[in-house]
Amino acid sequence: MPNQKSGHSARSGFSTRAVWAGQDACTATGATIVPVYQTATFTLPQIGLTKGFDYSRTANPTRQAMERQLAALESGDFGCAFASGMAAVAGAASLLRRGDHILATRDLYGGTHRLFTQVLPRYGIDVSFIDTSDAQHVWEAATPRTRMVWLETPSNPTLRLCDIAAIAQRKPPNVLVAVDNTFASPFFQRPLELGADLVVHSTTKYIAGHSDVIGGVVISGARELAERIAYHQNCVGAVPGPWDAYLTLRGAKTLAIRMRAHAANAQAVAEFLARRSDVAKVYYPGLDTHPQHALARRQMNGYGGVVSFRPSGGAPRAHAVAASTSIFALAVSLGGVESLICSPAAMTHASLTPWERAELGISDDLLRLSIGIEDAGDLIGDLAAALDGTNPSRSRNSGGLVSRRKPPANGNREAGCEEVGRLG
Ligand SMILES: Cc1ncc(COP(=O)(O)O)c(C=O)c1O
Repeated sequence: MPNQKSGHSARSGFSTRAVWAGQDACTATGATIVPVYQTATFTLPQIGLTKGFDYSRTANPTRQAMERQLAALESGDFGCAFASGMAAVAGAASLLRRGDHILATRDLYGGTHRLFTQVLPRYGIDVSFIDTSDAQHVWEAATPRTRMVWLETPSNPTLRLCDIAAIAQRKPPNVLVAVDNTFASPFFQRPLELGADLVVHSTTKYIAGHSDVIGGVVISGARELAERIAYHQNCVGAVPGPWDAYLTLRGAKTLAIRMRAHAANAQAVAEFLARRSDVAKVYYPGLDTHPQHALARRQMNGYGGVVSFRPSGGAPRAHAVAASTSIFALAVSLGGVESLICSPAAMTHASLTPWERAELGISDDLLRLSIGIEDAGDLIGDLAAALDGTNPSRSRNSGGLVSRRKPPANGNREAGCEEVGRLG
């Protein structure tokens, strides 16, 4: 339903929808901003009647506003919110049944890979990982049991792309195309407009945008799919609470201006890294040296805020760089206003075997940057200092591999630290 007061509609611009879609003024009080309906239950007018809500696992007004807002941003009709991106991935996979088969992008987020290889097979659903950058190859790999193609584009962390429209155009009617659109965000890429059936997000990332909430969403344009996912959502109950829904709704209002800032900074950082002789490789779809830059220009309205790179000098130097930045925080996750640096092999993708990582190009010297919205000059200065300080030929220290972070007072570990084998 269009919001009569604001006059927004499906044809309104992206930011108008972000600010208004799903967010009618409260009919009881006139509150302009959707309130946090912090309630588990709703008082019924009489047995057998509700005012649209009866229990917050099933539906909650704050969550519903956020679901409608995000569906509008993805040019979809139905949104189903989950307590995390992984719960949303599992929600989309709930459309499958025993005996079904998924074809998935080889280089996906490590947690999705873990769900697909360790959990879904226990329910009789198996997955083949393929190179989805070639649309023809995707359908050649399909079997009579294939019911879903799972795409992640740009992929995490090597930023490879696949051609959503070319893949969707050739899909048989009994196969669903699902796209994890977390890296691009709906501001830069809208898979439903390109023919996909489902879009999944870790809303933890760009959509909420401030690294203060975990969440996920599945969006579709088909009522039948949405009803089945909502059934799973209610049965399993992995739903966001009203506060998390509110933070996500609020964050998404500024998605367009944040994405422009992330992408402008990421382009500047990628170009800076590409000019350095002590950087072996830079991965960013906005660089014209990216092997799929032409596809990125066609399929996306911008190239996102994630840049990966390999400093020369191998893993020891890469780890020293990651430990040396003073603005970029050493942390998993991405998509927040603050810049982060991580080692995918040691952190986000540690659950893959070394062989799987090698096949995907997730080498031990690869670093992933989530570029925030700070000033580009400060981010470049921080990286320049970390690279200079760890470059034996530029550093005044003969060993070169020196962290600029202050060492902890007691030994090597900060208070409260534990060794972590796998994160994210
Ligand atoms: C591309 C992608 N999809 C899904 C997820 C899972 O999201 P969450 O951590 O919110 O469960 C992540 C998390 O990093 C991700 O990067």
